[in-house]
Amino acid sequence: MQSIMAFRSEFQPRRDDILLISFPKTGTTWLIALCHNILSLDDDEKEEVDVLAKMNPHELVPPLDVNFLSDQVQDLLLNPGRSKGRLLQTHLPYNCLPESVRNSGCKIVHVARNPKDTLVSMWHFYNKILKLSETTTTPDGPFPVERAAESFCSGVLPCGSFYEHVVGYWEESNKRPEEVLFLKYEELSRDPEEQVRKLASFMRRPFSSMEDGDAEVEKVLRRSSFNRLKELEVNKNGVWELHRLPNNTFFRKGTVGDWKCYLTPQMAKRIDQLTRLKLQGTGLSL
Ligand code: A3P
Repeated sequence: MQSIMAFRSEFQPRRDDILLISFPKTGTTWLIALCHNILSLDDDEKEEVDVLAKMNPHELVPPLDVNFLSDQVQDLLLNPGRSKGRLLQTHLPYNCLPESVRNSGCKIVHVARNPKDTLVSMWHFYNKILKLSETTTTPDGPFPVERAAESFCSGVLPCGSFYEHVVGYWEESNKRPEEVLFLKYEELSRDPEEQVRKLASFMRRPFSSMEDGDAEVEKVLRRSSFNRLKELEVNKNGVWELHRLPNNTFFRKGTVGDWKCYLTPQMAKRIDQLTRLKLQGTGLSL
């Protein structure tokens, strides 16, 4: 809370900042990699640099909210290492963003995901964390999926309600499409070329429509791909020191529809009903 309060009161956005925002487990790691690799294309012309080959995406772009007071984040804010604007990240819902961000005109990219896949991904993630820290393991072993589904439906989660989060950014992207881009994990999976072109244009770094552009798109997608990142030594065996988390916790399956392997038909039905209710009238489908 202390860090979030400091972020809200002290953060000074710049007009050329790009803020990557997501509800946890909806594709943050992928989004960071894609945006970093888009912005790095210009650097590549000078020399071959591929920072993500040696660094986990979250280490490169740590969340501002819970780490705002850390030396690493303060240093990143002052020395972002690139001239064309800072790449920054947070999981805060729209109504909790610092007032300064909302009025700064900086760009926001939000990625959303199917709620059932988000829930399953989050459930796996927290179970991995619980396993790492024996003192917090629940008496009945790993956190059961029934309880995870209950928390998800009641909105009792670290970043609040999934639905309020996605709807907040969805509505803002409709009001200010030049400043807020709303992406979906499923669309990125289904048509990555198209989505990454849209993302790059939004970031004011469009690919050319010629052959060179195709090669650049291919390079960004290859460098950001799940299979590549997951197999890198840094992500197989490295640790994100800021949170003492193994980097491999961010790479599980990376597929669409994995919820079918874990949720009962009753759980799925309950979440589908809730999703219909919460997204009713918004024009958003997930
Ligand atoms: P699964 O648990 O369904 O596999 P976040 O990055 O917001 O923490 O979300 C994590 C989810 O994104 C995990 O989903 C993870 O496997 C997946 N993921 C991580 N990197 C990815 C990438 N480069 N491409 C696609 N999915 C990725």
